[in-house]
Amino acid sequence: MNRLKQGVGRLRSHRILAAAAAVAVVSGGISLVSIGTAAAAPGCSVAYAANSWDSGFTASIDITNSGDPITSWALEFDYAGNQVGGSAWGGTLTQTGKHVKIVNSAWNGSLAAGASTNVGFNGTYSGTNAKPTSFTLNGTACNGGTTNPTPTPTNTVSPTVSPTATVSPTVNPTPTTTAQPGAHLDNPYVGAKWYVNSDWSAKAAAEPGGSAVSNQPTGVWLDSIASITAPSGSGYATSLRGHLDRALAQGATLAQFVIYDLPGRDCAALASNGELGPTEIGRYKTEYIDPIAAIEADPKYASIRIVNIVEIDSLPNLVTNAGSAAGATEACRTMLANGNYSTGIAYALSKLHAAGTNNYNYIDAAHHGWLGWDSNFAPAATMFADTAKKATGGVNTVDGFITNTANYSALNEPFVKISTTVNGTSVRQSKWVDWNQYTDELTFAQGFRNQLISAGFNSNIGMLIDTSRNGWGGSARPTAASTSTDLNTYVDASRIDRRIHAGNWCNQSGAGLGERPKAAPASGIDAYTWIKPPGESDGSSSLVPTGADNPGGKGFDRMCDPTYTGNGRNGNSLSGALPNAPVSGAWFSAQFRQLLANAYPAL
Ligand code: GLC
Repeated sequence: MNRLKQGVGRLRSHRILAAAAAVAVVSGGISLVSIGTAAAAPGCSVAYAANSWDSGFTASIDITNSGDPITSWALEFDYAGNQVGGSAWGGTLTQTGKHVKIVNSAWNGSLAAGASTNVGFNGTYSGTNAKPTSFTLNGTACNGGTTNPTPTPTNTVSPTVSPTATVSPTVNPTPTTTAQPGAHLDNPYVGAKWYVNSDWSAKAAAEPGGSAVSNQPTGVWLDSIASITAPSGSGYATSLRGHLDRALAQGATLAQFVIYDLPGRDCAALASNGELGPTEIGRYKTEYIDPIAAIEADPKYASIRIVNIVEIDSLPNLVTNAGSAAGATEACRTMLANGNYSTGIAYALSKLHAAGTNNYNYIDAAHHGWLGWDSNFAPAATMFADTAKKATGGVNTVDGFITNTANYSALNEPFVKISTTVNGTSVRQSKWVDWNQYTDELTFAQGFRNQLISAGFNSNIGMLIDTSRNGWGGSARPTAASTSTDLNTYVDASRIDRRIHAGNWCNQSGAGLGERPKAAPASGIDAYTWIKPPGESDGSSSLVPTGADNPGGKGFDRMCDPTYTGNGRNGNSLSGALPNAPVSGAWFSAQFRQLLANAYPAL
């Protein structure tokens, strides 16, 4: 698949540290102040977290209604210092002097008893950024002990928690881990036993040192009609039913499949061109989605939470590489004009959601080096929402989104944060960051989640991040910030992501395995997961004719050729691809060995 396209068609916003940048970073101590009340009384608890840098901060506030159900709310608090809040997500913020009032958005005004919501905003300050210590919700104090002095046994937090007690951040409230079959969960990954694809495991285990990771769960790619039934001679070892039966045998309660066969697939690249032509939407529906939905609906598999990763790269390509965008390709223009990406995705969402309450849809949302610019960020969220609204069931068919699928973007950039300045100049002005609003996947995924909710998706959507190949460990990994005062020297010496350019996407030299698959690792993130099976190529480094080594007729994209000096979409840089790569999806032993050697966290 094509993984680049960051620079294309975006406007260059030269505003530095724009106040409205939707960076939602939750870190540092959270002050939790709480009071529980009898059901007849109003009640609330508030957890306020702030992530500060030199003169700015991002606030994230969890509000829990511990009283009777309410249909609207106004949260109020006072700052002790000179903090000024900017525009909020999840609510509307007004400030008079030190007094801040945040009123609910249309979608999160109603809070059932015990329900929570989150609001956030970026702000500015100087001096000390002290957290506010008392909050009111609809006039009722949430800070315990004063206006509501007698917590009752319904109190949800320990009564010994004082108004200023610091508790460890409860990223992702943990839903029940023993769901009954039939329950549709907020985060299906929590408490699940993930299916391990033993076809992949066998290849991984056969490599030196591979057994360290060969029992990890990886995504199963349904990348053609034949992949559903895996007839002999098709090159597929196991059918969809075969995987699900094996999942049952493993006692697994979650399995991950990639839905990847749109008409005119991979319109901005050549390495993962698909089998269906641009107009073959009818075949996509009846020969591809319908059979998958029928199998996933089989009650035999009701105990498995079936995660469908929906159509990698497709909608993002329509945002940046179609229409009048500078780097538009003819194929993407065609797919934007005929609407078949959007029609196909809406159909997939409808059918796969209706396959059962144990089915979960996550739409591909590219990565920070593609959608992180202002000119792409909000338009992409809007396009995703417009597409989902066409599905039967609308936005309720969408459980979340995945970023970084098969890409290499670092999860965290500890020394190149979007707020970092070098000699007074923002890293946004460096060649590497190039005015992006994000420098890593975690902040992007969290920020984009907020944007998606603003665009109309449910407030309980969760993000996945593909961490299969974004580890960037090994001896080249920086362990401290550079001391250089030259902007580009600082950024290039300090960044975790060692690519030549963030638009490079094919078999990247120097990459390592990333975070091991893990449920609910951070606020707003349902899981880190290995969707791209490590060791499977992104594309061949030279043309491989259709035949034994290329049974699917995969194309050749020069971004997979290490001698290619690039194009406008990767800043005319070298491709950074490893040599001697087989076609996309085929086992690439040398790449797997490099991923093992450069794993971060180390194995
Ligand atoms: C690529 C290939 C696809 C393969 C997938 C996972 O996108 O086109 O065939 O299944 O990567 O390796």
